[in-house]
Formats: sequence, C-alpha cells, structure tokens
Amino acid sequence: MKLLLLGSGGREHALAWKISQSPKIEKLFIAPGNAGTANVGENVPLKADDFAGIKKFVLDNKVDMVVVGPEDPLVKGVYDFFKNDAEISNIPVVGPSKAGAVLEGSKDFAKGFMQRHNVPTAAYKCFDGTQVEEACKFLETLQAPYVLKADGLCAGKGVLIVPTLEEAKKELREMLGGMFGEASAKVVIEEFLSGIECSVFVLTDGKNYKILPEAKDYKRIGEGDTGLNTGGMGSVSPVPFADAEWMKKVEDRIIRPTVEGLAKEGIDYKGFIFFGLINVDRKYSCAEAGDPMVIEYNVRMGDPETETVMLRIKSDLVDLLEGVAEGNLNEKQIEFDNRSAVCVMMVSGGYPQDYKKGFEITGIEDVEGSVVFHAGTALKDGKVVTAGGRVIAVSSYGNTQNEALVKSFTEAGKIQFEGKYFRRDIGQDLLK
Ligand code: AMP
Ligand code: GLY
Repeated sequence: MKLLLLGSGGREHALAWKISQSPKIEKLFIAPGNAGTANVGENVPLKADDFAGIKKFVLDNKVDMVVVGPEDPLVKGVYDFFKNDAEISNIPVVGPSKAGAVLEGSKDFAKGFMQRHNVPTAAYKCFDGTQVEEACKFLETLQAPYVLKADGLCAGKGVLIVPTLEEAKKELREMLGGMFGEASAKVVIEEFLSGIECSVFVLTDGKNYKILPEAKDYKRIGEGDTGLNTGGMGSVSPVPFADAEWMKKVEDRIIRPTVEGLAKEGIDYKGFIFFGLINVDRKYSCAEAGDPMVIEYNVRMGDPETETVMLRIKSDLVDLLEGVAEGNLNEKQIEFDNRSAVCVMMVSGGYPQDYKKGFEITGIEDVEGSVVFHAGTALKDGKVVTAGGRVIAVSSYGNTQNEALVKSFTEAGKIQFEGKYFRRDIGQDLLK
C-alpha cells in the first residue's frame, strides 16, 4: 500500500516510524515531514492543509490511504474534502469528518456532547461577549481556582487556570474582549478538577474501537512540574494507576458512550480519539475519588504521547488503520509491548519563550538502543539543524519506568546543539 501521512512533528515521526515497519507498506510519504521522517519515508513539500495540492499528489502517486496527524487539517475538513470529490472519494482518510473534529475545535460543543451522553466531566457554562455580567455571577458560584477556556482552537494556549475570583473576572473580560481573537468569542467556565492526568487513545471505525496504550505527558518546562507550560517535555507509557479496573471505568463510562454518541448524532468519525482524562482525588457530582473524568477531547494522537504509545504497540498499525478504513476493526487484534516506554523531549534554549533556530544538531548517530524522533528539525546544506522549540524526542524501552527514563536521558546526553535542554524527571511523580 502507498500511504500519505500529513504533519511534521514528533508525533508524525513516531507514526511514520511505526507505519514504515509494516510489511503492507510499499511506499510511505509524509507531507511536509521533517528531517527525521525523511529516514523512514519520502517527504513531500506540501502543507498539511493544502488540500488541492494533496489531491493532485494523491492522484499522481496512486496513494491508497491518507492518515492525518495534526488537528488543523481535520478541523478545516480534509476528510470531507476527500469524501465529496468523486475523483478521490474512494481513498480513505483516517481522521474524523469536520463535524467530528468539532469535538476538539469547540470546547462548548465538546462539553454539550459529554452532557448529552452522560460522560463524566466538570460542571460548566459557556458565555459570549454579551453575557459578561452573567459569566461573572457564575464565577462567584464556583470555588477557586477558576478554569477559563477559549471555545475555539488556540494552539494549546486557550486554557487559563486562575487563583482568585478577581483575576478570573479580569481574564474573562479580556478573553471575551478578543484575547484569542475569534477563538475566545465564547468562553467555557468550568469547575476545577483535582487529580492526576492521563491520556487515553482509541482508534475507531465509527462503530468498533480499539484502545491503544495509555500515556501521561509532562507539560511544564521545569523539573518537578514547575515553570511555564510547553507543548510537552516528555511522556511515559504505561501509566501505573491506569490498571485494568480503572481502564474498565474509562471504557464503560467514557469510551463506549463517546463512540456510541458520535454514531447516534450521525457524526462520521473514523480515526483517533484522544481522551484527556483526570483521575480525580476527591468526590464530584458525577464521580468519586479514584474515578476518571474527561478534561478534553482531541481528534488526533497526543504529542509527545505518541512517541511512547507507538513503542508499546506490537501489532501492525497499518492493519489497524485498514480496519478503520474498512469498518471491520472488530476483526483486528491489538497487542501491547509490556515494557515501559519513556520519551524525553530535547528543546531549544529559551523555549517556550523566545528561542533561536538553525543550530546544527550532532551526535544523533551515537545514540544506541533508543529511538530518536525528530520534532522541530530541518535539513540545511546536508546538516540537521534545529527548526522549532521542541527539537528531538528520545524514546526508550525499559523493564521498569525508571530504567526507560535513565536510558532516554543518557542517550539524550549524546545529542548536542547550542542551548539544548531536557527534563530528567519524566514519570517520577508516578513512582511516589
Ligand atoms: P485543555 O486544553 O482542555 O486540555 O486544558 C489544558 C490543561 O489545563 C489540561 O491538560 C489540564 O492540565 C488543565 N485543565 C483543563 N481543564 C481543567 C479543569 N477543569 N480542572 C483542572 N485542570 C484543568
Ligand atoms: N500532549 C497533549 C496534546 O497533544 O494535546
């Protein structure tokens, strides 16, 4: 099969790495890809949202399947673009329709969906710019800290957690006043949930689903989960508290109602669903301490979770993707690798604030026994250079989580670029 993967980050390199191992793959293209994906497939100089360009490429190269990495092309409707064009409607796109992508594209929609299908989530209300006073009154009924979410996509920056009522009202006015442009024309205000987060992923064909290995990501720049939020500084899989009993609650209360809810609402959804969960540590109106609740839905895989999840899938991912396309995922098997996987993200000095790009990266070839996924890299005059804040993810197996962690940061120590930084404590909070 000839497969085209859309996207260019660490997630896409991890997906490409796994896809390229399939005996079913004759040719793997990545658009636009990065310096790492070029080692496992052929990069194509097309943006992931250049639908007309993608159509031409798919026809010229007889591509059999398109897999979508990031949310942006999904929210813009790449699935529908293919489905509604007779020349390419027979080519399966793994990813939800535009209507399905709204689960990530609108927090208001996602919260309403969860309410309609009794999926446990924080109590909330949504307000627009004409309802500032009402919104402030609602804030007064909640306990600190206050959670404010821009309704639309904000590249991961649209959620504010504010310690005092006074600041919450100020931030709310600014959000509704256009802090995030159109994305914060509506703001979801919700109850703060206390507990530990966990990312759970499924692949669904719209009716059947397969649960993939779960993972936890680490968003803060500093060790001990301190400092500014980033796109993710590392991940671990498995997550020790996500045992069979907890995952059964996740499946019964969250996964199944979501997949069935999508079908009931007539939403075409063939792709990944990412459940951003929290294992709450106290009682809420719809959950007891130790139960899972949903913080958010995403309509794609997580980054940097994919960089550990892919290590833990033993089965042929392409066989599962075919099950999604053909609607017979129930006939497929998924087998996990029982070892632990830990990913350590190497970032540019200064990230997540200002940083410089274009520094040469050396030492990648010295890494032994770990997998190096490129996130923000580029090829310049035959050299691999930094091209983003998150630069390289080093992922390793271990018989224990700690063994995998030590392996990852030891190997990360061999890779050099000016200003490099990474955390050495990924997963340590789970071992306490
Ligand atoms: P989201 O974009 O919805 O995933 O929110 C970003 C991050 O904000 C989440 O990963 C959580 O760490 C945090 N967060 C969001 N909603 C809540 C909530 N209701 N209670 C506590 N933390 C939250
Ligand atoms: N790691 C969180 C995300 O991909 O949104």
